[in-house]
Amino acid sequence: MRAPAMEEWLQGRADVRARRGLVRNAVPAEPLLDLASNDYLGLSRDPRVVAAACEALKRHGAGARASRVVTGTLPVHVHLEEQLCRLTGAQSALAFSSGYTANLGVLTALGGPGTLLVLDAHVHASVLDAARLSRSPVVTVPHGDTAAVRTALAERNQPRAVVVVESLYSVLGDAACLTALAAACADHDAWLLVDEAHGIGVAGGGRGAVHAAGLAGARHVVLTVTLSKALGAQGGAVLGPAVLREHLVNTARSFIFDTALAPASAAAAATAAAIVLAEPELAAALHRNAQLLAELCMIELSPGAVQSVPMASAGAAAAAAASLRSHGVLAGCFRPPSVPDGISRLRLAASAGLSPGGIARAGALVRRAVEGTLTHATTVHAFGERTLS
Ligand SMILES: Cc1ncc(COP(=O)(O)O)c(C=O)c1O
Repeated sequence: MRAPAMEEWLQGRADVRARRGLVRNAVPAEPLLDLASNDYLGLSRDPRVVAAACEALKRHGAGARASRVVTGTLPVHVHLEEQLCRLTGAQSALAFSSGYTANLGVLTALGGPGTLLVLDAHVHASVLDAARLSRSPVVTVPHGDTAAVRTALAERNQPRAVVVVESLYSVLGDAACLTALAAACADHDAWLLVDEAHGIGVAGGGRGAVHAAGLAGARHVVLTVTLSKALGAQGGAVLGPAVLREHLVNTARSFIFDTALAPASAAAAATAAAIVLAEPELAAALHRNAQLLAELCMIELSPGAVQSVPMASAGAAAAAAASLRSHGVLAGCFRPPSVPDGISRLRLAASAGLSPGGIARAGALVRRAVEGTLTHATTVHAFGERTLS
C-alpha cells in the first residue's frame, strides 16, 4: 500500500533545502588537496599508527565484543588511557567509543537537577544533546563571555555547576580563554569542562590548550577529547581527577551500555598520542602551514588548524566550495544549522603535511573563489574571542 504523506513531506523538505542552497551530500575521500578533514597531523596514515592498529586487530580481533564493564576492557584500552594521561598531564582517563559519547557520558553523569550547566553559545552539538539528556538546568552564555559565566555561577541556586567550552572552536576556529574561565570556576566552586576535540595534538605543542594554560591536572578541570581528529584514529575520552573516572565507570550510560572502543582504534590512538608527545615538531609544522594558508587566503589567522572564511550566503559558500573542488581542493562548507553564528563559511583545515606549493595553490584558488562573495563581516580575535559585525 502507498503511503504518500511521508513521501510528499520528504520531497517538500528536499525542495526547501534546494531553494535555500542547503543540500548536503556524503563526500567520498579522494586524492585531492584536502583542507576539509580533521587529520591535522596526518597521523591517520602514519605507518606506526597503522601498524599498531594492525597488530591490535590480529591480537584482539575486529571488535571488543562487550562493554568495558562486562568483558570488553582490553590491554589496549588501559594503554590508551595511560598514553592520554601522559600527553595531557591529566590524573586519569576513560576511553569512550567516540568524542560524542564521551561528552554524553560525562555531562549526564555529572548533571541532574543539582548541577547547573553553563554552556558557551558555540559549543558542539554533542554537548547540547548531552545537556538535554542530563536533565540539568542550563544557562547558555554569549560566546566567549567570561563575565556572563561568572554571573551565571554567582546567581545559581544549585549546589554544583559545570561550565562547558571548547578549547578551540570547531567551526570558527577561535580559542576559549581558559585561564579566566578556570579562575571563574575556582572562585565559584564549579568545574570547567573543556572539549579539546580540536585542541589535542594542535595547541600547546600538541599537548592541548589545557596543558598550555598550565591547568593540566587541576582538580576542577575536566577534558573531553576525540581520538578522531589530530590523533587520526576513532573514539573519545574523558580526562580528569580519578574520583571522576570512578564515577563515570559506574554511572555514565554511554560508557556502560556501549560496546568498548574497537581494539584497533584504541591501539592506533595510543600510538598517535605517544608520537604527538615525542614529536612536537608535528604541531609546529601544522601551525606554520596554518599561518601560511591564512596569509595566502588573506584571512585573519585563527589559533588552531581551522581557518574560517565567512561568506555572504549559504549559496555563495556552496558555490565557492564547488569551485574549489573542481580545481582539486577540498574545503569544508558550513551552512545553517552547522554554523553557531548563522553565518555560512568555508572552513579550511590546515595540516602538518601540506606542502608550500599546495598551500600556495589553495591560497590563490580560495581568493579567487571567494572574490566578491565575502560578507561585510570583519573577524576580530581578542582574548580568544571572535566577533562578527
Ligand atoms: C568540538 C567537538 N566535540 C565533539 C566531537 C565529537 O567527536 P567524535 O567525532 O569522536 O564523536 C566533535 C567532532 O566533530 C567536535 O568537533
